[in-house]
Amino acid sequence: MTKTRILENVEEIDYDKKASDKKLTVKNAVRDGRIARMSKEIKTIGVLTSGGDAPGMNAAIRAVVRKAISNGVKVKGIKKGYQGLLNEEIIDLERSSVSDTIQRGGTILGTARCTDFKYEEGQAKGAEICEKHGIDGLVVIGGDGSYRGAQALARHGINTVGIPGTIDLDIACTDYTIGFDTAINTAMQAIDKVRDTSSSHERCSIIEVMGRNAGYIALWCGIANGAEDILIPEKYDYNEQRIINNIINNRKHGKTHHIIINAEGIGHSTSMARRIEAATGIETRATILGYMQRGGSPTCKDRVYASVMGAYAADILCEGKSNRVVAYQRGEFKDYDIEEALQMQKEIPQYIYDVSGRL
Ligand code: ADP
Ligand code: F6P
Repeated sequence: MTKTRILENVEEIDYDKKASDKKLTVKNAVRDGRIARMSKEIKTIGVLTSGGDAPGMNAAIRAVVRKAISNGVKVKGIKKGYQGLLNEEIIDLERSSVSDTIQRGGTILGTARCTDFKYEEGQAKGAEICEKHGIDGLVVIGGDGSYRGAQALARHGINTVGIPGTIDLDIACTDYTIGFDTAINTAMQAIDKVRDTSSSHERCSIIEVMGRNAGYIALWCGIANGAEDILIPEKYDYNEQRIINNIINNRKHGKTHHIIINAEGIGHSTSMARRIEAATGIETRATILGYMQRGGSPTCKDRVYASVMGAYAADILCEGKSNRVVAYQRGEFKDYDIEEALQMQKEIPQYIYDVSGRL
């Protein structure tokens, strides 16, 4: 297995005397892709989970471990994300270390948010610790923020590959992120239950789902639960009077409940409920689903896709690729340069959104 490395000790060279009289550092030339990277053997890789946990992360860890080992590479687990790296919470992982984990929610490695890693000092220390523990490459399972950390480590000479792990589905380069499928199924079942009691009491219910600034969980649950209104940050016009008119109109036509799915990115469900009750005279309750959406045993889809992504990440890391992120697009698993992935924009599919308002 080979690893691409940047020569750190060479200050300046004429790497292309014919084409240029400029002296450029090797590091810059490698970054620009103007000279070939040096290759080095990959003997050991690390794996960590970072940011919010997501069901399916264990399936990804398991696949990274087992695929790397089958490639002849050793694996170390880093506990509690970048914080655990800085604290040197590093353990050896064998095939058996990940037995009986594929069906478990959360992450067996633990996760954290680590402010120190956003700064050069923390990133340089992280790279030094990887070197000290013989970690030639690192798989980072997390969201956009975690990829920034992976990018920084790559700049410091540690090969890195990211895997999209977030329930929010808010990573532009991929149609799939680990945990979204489980989260929407968990939320959908909870919303069905709220709907039962909402109908019995002829109430209006505002149910707030997670997603940070993205409305994917709200949109999917809104459709799956047959919500009367779906409020997502990407589209909501903050016209509450329209919602109020909709509730009054539906009640006139005999509807016994009114379900509003509100995305976390809009929030304020409790005060919205108070205003709607005052305006309609209909009892209105807010339910904030919260962290239950991030837990639980992963669905079949999350287990399978996370397993494939984990294996894919181990393979490309072992091949010597670095600064990459694994993605799933239009039926295919692929990888992108992290910078390119972070530049991409994601939009709510217009047709799905339009349909959601007509059902
Ligand atoms: P997510 O990975 O789900 O987007 P966060 O945005 O909280 O979650 O990022 C997770 C962790 O990644 C942060 O706590 C921090 O350690 C690291 N991180 C976030 N942003 C950066 C950055 N700009 N540079 C380096 N590391 C970062
Ligand atoms: O990114 C996943 C997520 O659950 C978001 O939906 C939510 O906004 C956030 O994490 C909550 O993070 P924390 O665990 O830090 O409260």
